[in-house]
This record gives sequence, C-alpha cells and structure tokens, in this order.
Amino acid sequence: MNHKSGNQGERASGLILVTGGAGFIGSNFVLDWFDQLDRDAELQTHTSVALVNLDKLTYAGNAGNLAALRGRPDYTFVHGDICDGGLVARLLAQHRPAAIVHFAAETHVDRSISAPDAFLRTNIDGTFTLLQAARAHFDTLAGEECERFRFLHVSTDEVYGTLQPDDPAFSESTPYAPNSPYAASKAASDHLVRAWHHTYGLPTLITNCSNNYGPLHFPEKLIPLMLTHALAGKPLPVYGDGQQVRDWLYVRDHCSAIRAVLAGGRPGETYNVGGGNQRSNLKVVRTLCALLDELRPESPFTPHAQLIRFVTDRPGHDRRYAIDARKLEQELGWHAQETFESGLRKTVAWYLANSAWVDNVTSGAYQNWVQQNYSRRAISETAMESVHIKAGEAE
Ligand code: NAD
Ligand code: TYD
Repeated sequence: MNHKSGNQGERASGLILVTGGAGFIGSNFVLDWFDQLDRDAELQTHTSVALVNLDKLTYAGNAGNLAALRGRPDYTFVHGDICDGGLVARLLAQHRPAAIVHFAAETHVDRSISAPDAFLRTNIDGTFTLLQAARAHFDTLAGEECERFRFLHVSTDEVYGTLQPDDPAFSESTPYAPNSPYAASKAASDHLVRAWHHTYGLPTLITNCSNNYGPLHFPEKLIPLMLTHALAGKPLPVYGDGQQVRDWLYVRDHCSAIRAVLAGGRPGETYNVGGGNQRSNLKVVRTLCALLDELRPESPFTPHAQLIRFVTDRPGHDRRYAIDARKLEQELGWHAQETFESGLRKTVAWYLANSAWVDNVTSGAYQNWVQQNYSRRAISETAMESVHIKAGEAE
C-alpha cells in the first residue's frame, strides 16, 4: 500500500454499508475490503470491520461475484433498492454504520441514451433517498460515532464533459458540463451530495473517477466487450473513428483510492481519481488484440485485429476524458499501482481463466442488449480502409 492513510481501520472501524456492491467496482471493492481485513487480521493489527451490501441486482449486479464471502459472519448481503427509503432507514437503524460507500447506479452511457428513465430514478432519486436516510441516521450519532461518520459518493469524470486534445486534465475545480443522460444524472447526484454537506452538515466525500477496467467487468463496456467478442471471433465494434480518448484505471487501484479517501479525506471535499493512462479506443482495442494473439496463438481468429469494425458513432460522444489526480496523491499519498499494460494483462488473464463467469453473464437479456445496440449501427467501409492503411501504426 502506497498511501499514508490506507488503513481502513483508522476511521471506518465498526460496520460499513456499501450500495451496489454486486456490480463491477462494488464487488471488487467488497472483495478487496475483506482481503485487506484478512491481511490485517493475520498481522493482528486490526479488529473486525463488518460490511453490509445493499444491491438491487439489476442486469449489472451479480451476487455470484461475491460467492467467496458466503458464510462469513462479518458480511451481509441485502437484496433491495436504494430508492426504498423505508428499507434504507431500517438498515441504518439496525446496523448503525460508521460509513456509507455509495456505488449503486445505472452506469452505461449507451443504455442511458436509449432509456434514460432508470438513470434518473436510481442515480438521482436513489441518491436523494440515501442522503435523507443518512442525515436522519447521522442525527442520532454522538461523540466519536458522530465524529467519524462518512457518506462517500462514488462518481465519475464524465460530469466534467469533454476535453479538446490539448486541454489540461479535469481537476476538482473544473466546471461541470455533463453531456450524456448518464453523466447528467451523476452530476445531479454529486450536486445533491454537495448540498447535503453544505446545508445539513452531513460529512460527505465525493470521488470522481476515470474509466475503470479489470476482473468482473460486465461485457457491455468497451474492454470486456471487445475481449469477449474477440475470443468468440465476433466483430469488434469501434464507434466512429476510434480516436476518442479515455484515462484508464485498474479497478483495484480505484478501490484503494476509495479506502484512502474514506480514511483520510476531508468532509465536504471532492477527490479526482485517475490512472494517468490516456489511450484512444482504437489503441486499447489493438493492444487487447495483440495480447490475445500472444496468449491464445492457437486461436482461429489470430490476428484478432482483423475483427475490428468501425461502426456508427454514439450520439453526443465525448471526445476525451483525462484526470488530474494530484490532490489525492498529494493529500492522501495514494498512487495507482498498475500501469495500463500490467493491469490489462491481469484483466485478460482473468477473463481467460473465467469463461464460466462470462457465459453466465452473457446469456439471456444480455444478448437482447447486444442486438438492440449494435444491429442498428452501420459499418463504415471508409474507416475500415483507413485502418488497413494504418495497420501496424501505434495510433
Ligand atoms: P455497475 O453497473 O457494474 O454496477 C452497479 C450496481 O448497482 C449493480 O450491482 C446494480 O445491481 C446496483 N444497482 C443499480 N440500481 C440499484 C438500485 N436502485 N438499488 C440498489 N442497487 C442498485 O457499475 P460500476 O461500473 O461498478 O460503477 C459503480 C459506481 O462507480 C457508479 O456509481 C458509477 O457511476 C461509478 N463509476 C464507474 C466507472 C466505471 O468505469 N465503471 C468510472 C467512474 C465512476
Ligand atoms: P464505455 O466502456 O461504454 O465507457 P464510457 O462511455 O463510460 O467512457 O466506452 C468507452 C469508450 O469506448 C467510449 O468512447 C465509447 C467506446 N466504445 C466503442 O467504441 N465501442 C463499444 O462497443 C463500446 C461499448 C464503447
């Protein structure tokens, strides 16, 4: 651990309530939390810190991600909706958490374009419901319990909008300019969290993170979609010209950042989290293909880059995201441990070793989504020609 305040026990001793802990980042966070706990217990430096996970198990949630925790007395799974104020209030009264770490959200930009309703409900109304319940709970706390309580809201860099190629990276003072329904709903939830601190004194923390990747990533997002398609010999649908840039962060590095902010972040503050790995989508897909060529040389689809297809762009597609994470690094001593290359290698190895997980999450409703999102996208032959000309270039 590289950060100064990384020990989760420093502030969040007692129990924590996690929302959305069966999704991609949430389940990595929960697994990572117990990994840290078990390591500390081995070193006998730590008392028990329990965790309650509230998740609705939407299409993106998978209780199987946390199968390894079944039977642990310090882990409780609650199947429920953050919009259910009564349930949330009961959970807070029953467990009296020292912190709430709020991941639950609708998260896929393409789905927010075709059906924004659920995004407004969960991301805005759900966060509002949680904030109200957290406030009521906070008001019952006294002394040290009151002093150490935190509401940590996990958000995204997409609230800041889009960058030109030479613009400086997003800092915590970059004005909000969300462009997609997803980004707008997350921006609204960030504003609510800010207001609940400012008006009611709720000790909130906000983290705005760049694109994550790693194990347990649902294959509707770029990296796991391209990976699973390439393994199956299906087309790799790159939107537009593939020159949109994202700043990639390995998911376990995001988890350690959240622990650092929970332990040492100043109430009312925002911390940007990023990996310092800006890559164009085309470059990401090509790197993935090269890794698969290396790790699966016997595949009939080698070279996997032959599967790349340029398809109709996403409406309102943000061109570039980049995060300036200096505040988190300088105040809390956090640093990402993985480079993009080491993280991507771990990710590919995980997907190769976990084909049963992929088969499970890509059956049924997932196929309907793929059909809905991709069948209407035309393939651009002009762009295909240009990629053949450019083949081999590290664009
Ligand atoms: P995900 O879509 O993989 O998982 C979301 C989880 O929330 C699922 O388990 C789902 O069942 C649960 N959920 C959805 N609606 C719910 C509701 N009403 N009540 C209870 N649970 C509900 O998302 P993720 O990629 O793990 O993202 C987690 C958080 O991190 C989100 O708030 C997202 O905005 C933020 N974030 C994600 C990324 C990224 O690259 N994935 C980057 C920055 C920030
Ligand atoms: P995504 O993983 O959906 O994350 P976000 O939109 O939140 O950044 O997409 C990452 C980038 O990859 C984004 O620029 C859109 C692009 N993309 C494709 O080119 N093809 C695809 O099939 C998908 C899902 C995304």
